[in-house]
Amino acid sequence: MTAINAVTDYSLEGDVGVITLNSPPVNALSAAVRDGIADGMAKAFADPGAKAVVLICEGRTFIAGADITEFGGERKGADLLKVMQDMENAPKPVIAAIHGTALGGGLETALACHYRVAVPSARCGLPEVALGLLPGAGGTQRLPRIVGVEKALEMMTSGAHVPAPQCLAMGLVDELTEEGKLREGAIAFARKVVAEGRPLKKVRESNEKVEAARGHPEIFENFRKANARKFRGFLAPEYNIRCIEAAVNEPFEEGMKTERRLFGELMSGSQSAAQRYAFFAERQANKIPDVPDDTPQIPVGSVGIIGAGTMGGGIAMNFANAGIPVTIVEVKQDALDRGLGVIRKNYERTASRGGITAADVEKRIGLIKGSLDMNDLAPADMVIEAVFERMDIKKDIFTKLDAICKPGAILATNTSALNIDEIALVTKRPEAVIGLHFFSPANVMKLLEVVRADHTAKPVIATSMKLAKKIGKIAALVRVTPGFVGNRMLAQRQREAQKLMFEGAMPWDIDRVLYDFGFPMGPFAMSDLAGLDVGWVKETSKGETIRDVLCEMDRRGQKTGAGYYDYDENRVARPSPVTEKIIQDFVAKSGVNPRQISDEEILERCLYPMVNEGAKILEEGKAIRASDIDVIWENGYGWPVYRGGPMWWGDHVGLDKILARMMEFQAQMGDVYKPAALLETMVAQGKKFTGS
Ligand code: 3HC
Repeated sequence: MTAINAVTDYSLEGDVGVITLNSPPVNALSAAVRDGIADGMAKAFADPGAKAVVLICEGRTFIAGADITEFGGERKGADLLKVMQDMENAPKPVIAAIHGTALGGGLETALACHYRVAVPSARCGLPEVALGLLPGAGGTQRLPRIVGVEKALEMMTSGAHVPAPQCLAMGLVDELTEEGKLREGAIAFARKVVAEGRPLKKVRESNEKVEAARGHPEIFENFRKANARKFRGFLAPEYNIRCIEAAVNEPFEEGMKTERRLFGELMSGSQSAAQRYAFFAERQANKIPDVPDDTPQIPVGSVGIIGAGTMGGGIAMNFANAGIPVTIVEVKQDALDRGLGVIRKNYERTASRGGITAADVEKRIGLIKGSLDMNDLAPADMVIEAVFERMDIKKDIFTKLDAICKPGAILATNTSALNIDEIALVTKRPEAVIGLHFFSPANVMKLLEVVRADHTAKPVIATSMKLAKKIGKIAALVRVTPGFVGNRMLAQRQREAQKLMFEGAMPWDIDRVLYDFGFPMGPFAMSDLAGLDVGWVKETSKGETIRDVLCEMDRRGQKTGAGYYDYDENRVARPSPVTEKIIQDFVAKSGVNPRQISDEEILERCLYPMVNEGAKILEEGKAIRASDIDVIWENGYGWPVYRGGPMWWGDHVGLDKILARMMEFQAQMGDVYKPAALLETMVAQGKKFTGS
């Protein structure tokens, strides 16, 4: 074994030269890794004993892409494109040996090899789109040449990590080796290539699949149309598509130039900067300053859930999906049956769309057990309460859990509003109590607000954060405050949306501005979808609010065909003259002179108070860092990721501008707009929340 550099070794194993990279955590293509590949290849090509070359990685994964931390920095080390060119033009076969994930620049490196072998558990993908980018090392030109245009469009615009067996089926991988025996398998494959005199396959020269799509622009147009909703607002998907068009219509070298140019545009743009920030923000959110990585974990082998409603059922699915057995407790048999029925239906729907197999459905359902007896939760390592939002009910449940659950069990509440400190104090073990605020639908939404109460023990926090990742959630740790972080900020936007309506803006104007900003829908469309009568009581309604009047008229949202909007039979919304009249009457009664409100003002009024509230949350220590707030808003509330979350966005709008407007609002409309002290300090010191 010869050391090539600090992260690369070379060895000759029989007649095969093996280059081994070892650059934790994910073998990203840092300058040292690029140098290592370049020098390792040069050594292998010059080694007369090596008839073929294998490129393999140590640790948890094959190369997981370019080193994102190097982006925007000084250019150092070997040029990746030159390294790849040398590999592709090598005088002897080069084989990539893949385990873990071959992603982005990692897959591009593998595509510049003549052959690729992988273990069955490996995954391959070009996920640059998620960073607001496109593959910038030939991936856009090579992938369609090997898997065809349709599959390349799908892979590059979704960023999916495709399982190795599927990669084999589409020709991206040439052979699967036995799990855990990649090195031996890759060397054996290399010998086979030599023995059979197989050609040095250069993907760049394989034009059949791209030529098949030439003269068929409809392939791209149809793809754009089919995905218009998904891609709305994002630049990167469109740029990826254009690169594939170039692969089809231009020779390889020209296509490479197009790729370079479009990659450069994205890299220097604001969207990719925001999306790269979001990538690191999500990972940063897992790091809790006073709960270090080596904090003891509580093994969670089984979970209990109280409540089989929409929330409880969705939460249960997360654990079953991760292979963790769940017991759901309900009070009445029919409610339990209904809840379990909904879970089965959800799984069957996923299976009918090809997401999971029928066997998966049964396996997951098999992990979920129903019960009417809370005593069945005695052996659970964690219990999550997901019942109606009433303090007396929750206190009663936690008193019972305290008596039933084994020592050391984590007692969690899914409350979205109630004071968890108060709930914890009814138990004799407040250190075991934590908030796990799932978002609806809990089996779909990515965000988990983990709420640390006054007495929550560190192992309980550490375990909850790790478990969140295991069940596929993105977690952020917050402290107890009304509405926690997400809903507390949402309340600002909701208040402004309502106030603007009383000043002359119509619901559809407000919704349009927020939709155009990039939210999936505005607050009024959202209310119509959720149902205006959530929390509304017919018997006591006195027509005091616009919502009261709408509900009294049976305009309760989409489900009744009308709410703020009118809906046609396809549930397409139209501005409603009825609602408009109701609003005008309210405004007239209140004596306010309605005015024309600009889109700019609507946006400022809805979003600046949120940034201000975020600052208050930080100054009160309710969130650890500004980027955690952004993680919450991007993953739980549809804040467009290409605008980086409210705090990143605020930094880029200019905190001085936001402060000035908040002061104007305060002067005009009162102290709810009072600027946060932290906002004032940041502006005075010329600082930013996200350091961007
Ligand atoms: N560059 C730099 N650091 C990276 C990295 C990368 N490409 N990928 C992961 N890391 C870091 C993470 O920041 C994290 O650091 P931390 O421990 O200090 O927080 C650490 O590696 C481990 O990452 P995860 O916590 O995400 O580990 P997982 O095991 O959950 O996931 C992974 C591993 C699937 C590889 C995931 O990290 C991932 O998806 N990484 C990004 C992959 C990617 O986007 N590649 C394309 C890069 S752009 C590119 O290649 C451009 C090219 O076309 C020119």
